[in-house]
Amino acid sequence: MNRQSIKVENLVKNFGKGDSLVEVINGASFEVNKGELVALIAPSGAGKTTLLMMIGCVEEPTSGTIWLGDEKVYENRWLTKETRKIRREKIGFIFQAHYLIPFLNILENVTLVPQTNGVSKKESEAFARELLDYFDIEDKAESMPSSLSGGQNQRAAIARALANKPQIILADEPTAALDLKRSVDVVKMLKKIALDQDVAIIMVTHDEAMLPLCDRILKIENKKVVSTEVPKKSHIL
Ligand SMILES: Nc1ncnc2c1ncn2[C@@H]1O[C@H](COP(=O)(O)OP(=O)(O)O)[C@@H](O)[C@H]1O
Ligand SMILES: [Mg+2]
Repeated sequence: MNRQSIKVENLVKNFGKGDSLVEVINGASFEVNKGELVALIAPSGAGKTTLLMMIGCVEEPTSGTIWLGDEKVYENRWLTKETRKIRREKIGFIFQAHYLIPFLNILENVTLVPQTNGVSKKESEAFARELLDYFDIEDKAESMPSSLSGGQNQRAAIARALANKPQIILADEPTAALDLKRSVDVVKMLKKIALDQDVAIIMVTHDEAMLPLCDRILKIENKKVVSTEVPKKSHIL
């Protein structure tokens, strides 16, 4: 069975043209397997968000190849007109801020994308309640985001990212707004999701304490991506 979930070959991303050309990624090649939680680290401005957005079919690369699961989605151009559909069906996004929709309750936030994908109200709500239960916020289903704590909102946002049963989760500094204990909880949860649901997860982080909880580290170095081992777990984790 094919274990690879994300495969990137010779990816290039430039912004601008001529004198204002900025090369961000120049020949990145790497893979992430199903069930893997991979940290993506690099200094600010090195292209972490840009890389996630290309894998997530949001930002168009300059050239290269991207496979998501068995589907080649990009080879020097998008191979489908329906990048939005790929995004909705295959990918779950988690951001630093939770970006829950403020005028929808938690259950409505979590069921929005599956319902857009054609899943019935009944089925999407049943699965959303399972997810909220898994994240210990089932009693918040009818609450508005503004009445939840930061950690609860971030867990709701992770539930939302899982609601469309994605093969891939792209998380951009998901713990940046959380304290150490809540960050550890969130990252451990992501690892459990990767294992339980065979999802490939890339998590951008600036927090070195999170690295031992991941399976592997991808670093952007010299506009390319290199893979390294994680440091050993420290006693606080
Ligand atoms: N839409 C854009 N137009 C021009 N330059 C951009 C755009 N988006 C990002 N960049 C540039 O690309 C580089 C990488 O940005 P980004 O991916 O946000 O880095 P990181 O997430 O690692 O901090 C930066 O130099 C940034 O200024
Ligand atoms: Mg960024």
